[in-house]
Amino acid sequence: MNLIESLLSPAARADPFPLYAEAHRLGPVLPIADTVFVIVGYAAVNEVLRNPGFGIPADPSSEPSLELMQRSILRANPPDHGRMRSLISQVFTPRRVAALQPAIEAAVDDLLDSLPTTVDFMDRFAFQLPVTVICELLGVPASERDRFRPLASDLTAALELTDASDASADAAAHELGEYFAELIREPSADGLVGALVAARDAGDGRLSDEELLANLILLLVAGFETTTDLLGNGLAILLDQPHLASDPAAFVEEVLRYDSPVQVTTRVARTDGLSAAGIAMPAGSNLILLLGAANRDPARFPQPDRFDPARADNKPLSFGAGTHICLGNSLARLEAKVAFARLLDRFPTITSAGPATRRDRLVLRGYQTLPVRLSSA
Ligand code: HEM
Repeated sequence: MNLIESLLSPAARADPFPLYAEAHRLGPVLPIADTVFVIVGYAAVNEVLRNPGFGIPADPSSEPSLELMQRSILRANPPDHGRMRSLISQVFTPRRVAALQPAIEAAVDDLLDSLPTTVDFMDRFAFQLPVTVICELLGVPASERDRFRPLASDLTAALELTDASDASADAAAHELGEYFAELIREPSADGLVGALVAARDAGDGRLSDEELLANLILLLVAGFETTTDLLGNGLAILLDQPHLASDPAAFVEEVLRYDSPVQVTTRVARTDGLSAAGIAMPAGSNLILLLGAANRDPARFPQPDRFDPARADNKPLSFGAGTHICLGNSLARLEAKVAFARLLDRFPTITSAGPATRRDRLVLRGYQTLPVRLSSA
């Protein structure tokens, strides 16, 4: 099997899971070339993510605004990463997330009130909820939110392993950069935007102008596109089987495992002497980590292709692990839990209202459209 070719194929974008199953039969770590490895096993992916010797690969872009995004925390290595991580975690605290719960509940109820009986769930709910919540958290006026959806989609296309259009991604980063540059001239006092501007202005060198902008763009985009996918992927599973979400927290965890919104991430070996699953990797080696495959590893999850919210010790790697573990994981979990609980409370029967379409992506996996019929009976 030519794994890379298969991964880049339209078939893998439509349904990567048969390919993952085949990859697991070959081993947890698949050498592709002398210094290129695809990591598929759960233990091996976890090992790499938690080993600080493996870092974020440089991804220089000739496009200026995409180059700016290299300054975000997601793309940073030590010591910059630790500096930004502690700063952002000081303002993006568990308390701030918990305090959002009433706003999340109100946003869910408002959206549910506005839904017609037959509806594209992606358009009218899965996108709307996370964008409303992240705007609230950041202190960005909610009136802007429809503008962000195509921009986020264009920007994240650059994450795909295929040659996505860097030009449209760059244009999106540029527009979002201009937007935030304008906003931070007068940030609202209580949002993350205000808190991060204050950190930059503290004058102790902990956050540069470029880092401030790159991280605001990242927080906006990371904050809703993945959560939109989590809601859509979850709802698609629930169609005709509402009982699966009787415990919303366990249901959300299993959706994360079974159909992870982020399927792939990458690392580079920053020093010599590194290995994963006992396989040596010379400095400079490029690693493709298949989070979605790790979550379906039969050595970690019995009957991995079965959707089972009651699984014991269900700890998927959908939010990564180690130093870069998703900063927004508790927010995403909270949104999804509240959403599914209230949705099913209001509409105990949800059925398909026509063919759903997937976005043509591997790395960020979600639906473009998901037509459903809602019934309160
Ligand atoms: C990092 C997934 C929601 C902000 C990550 C990473 C993953 C991930 C896999 C690590 C990437 C790596 O190590 O290479 C997800 C998923 C989400 C979600 C599946 C929803 C279901 C959110 C939300 C926010 C957020 C709601 C913010 C409000 C971030 C940030 C990082 C990150 C800032 C970078 C952390 C660092 O590099 O230290 N996310 N995320 N994410 N995520 Fe999320």
